Amino acid sequence: MERCVRPLTCPICHDGLTRKGNRLACPQGHSFDLAREGYVNLLPTNRRLPPTVGDSAEMLQARRRFLDGGHYAPLAARLPQVMQEWATTLNRAAPLTLLDCGCGEGYYGEWVRGALAGSGVCSFGMDVAKTAVKMAARRYPHTQFVAADVNGRLPFADQSIDLLLDIFAPRHAAEFGRVVSGALLAVIPRQAHLHSLRQALGLLNIEVDKAEKVVEGLRSYFQLAHTETLTFPLALTPSQLVDLIGMTPNGRHLSRTQIEAMAGSAPETEASFQILVLRHMKRDA
Ligand SMILES: C[S@@+](CC[C@H](N)C(=O)[O-])C[C@H]1O[C@@H](n2cnc3c(N)ncnc32)[C@H](O)[C@@H]1O
Ligand SMILES: [Zn+2]
Repeated sequence: MERCVRPLTCPICHDGLTRKGNRLACPQGHSFDLAREGYVNLLPTNRRLPPTVGDSAEMLQARRRFLDGGHYAPLAARLPQVMQEWATTLNRAAPLTLLDCGCGEGYYGEWVRGALAGSGVCSFGMDVAKTAVKMAARRYPHTQFVAADVNGRLPFADQSIDLLLDIFAPRHAAEFGRVVSGALLAVIPRQAHLHSLRQALGLLNIEVDKAEKVVEGLRSYFQLAHTETLTFPLALTPSQLVDLIGMTPNGRHLSRTQIEAMAGSAPETEASFQILVLRHMKRDA
């Protein structure tokens, strides 16, 4: 089946891309192969990103195993409900265009896409890690996945995105402001998130007032329209805990042996998230 392409733009000249067989091409003659799995690489070729940008294959595999275990399903199930409430207030013609930015292996975007599918949705996922978009494209055939860097110019046309998801992923206020025409849904871990685990295992802390700082960082373009918290208990086996730690930035600082050693003393803990809906200000009317 053909995935949506329409709002994608050329990373070199910023003209629109259209499908030409197994490639996407712009009118200026720049073209980009669609990989066998269906994703497209729009990362700049003239600028090498440091190897630490984006999640590693090990982190992505740990995240997929953990999410497949259903441990964060309460969050995944809540997102489409919040998104649907907002989709109905946006007054846009179907199909809605959805972008999951920093999509990882694609889990949350697929929950939201599935819920919007009945009324028509053009769905995209973007991540700087090629392994992420490859894993996502293999599993989710209805979404067009793109390798691109959120810190650069996003390969999407101005105001082309009705709903943008940013789940535990980096943000770029000016570019989100340029490409979004509707709302941005962001999820941020709260200080209570895995708190007892962080303390017991000496893991990285969560920034104080993180959600407020995110809202502040976006306020030139977006206005906070809705916020809610979601907290639920987590009781994990040692191997699930190894995956949970391995899928976060803690995974970079600890070896598997260290994580396995810690897992033996794992206390019960809770997941705690802040869900934010931010509405684009300049196009509210
Ligand atoms: C904590 S993970 C969250 C992944 C996914 N949203 C989820 O919750 O399962 C952060 C994601 O952001 C991606 N990322 C990090 N830096 C990025 C960048 N500069 N541009 C695009 N994606 C980036 C990572 O590769 C990773 O997949
Ligand atoms: Zn071009």
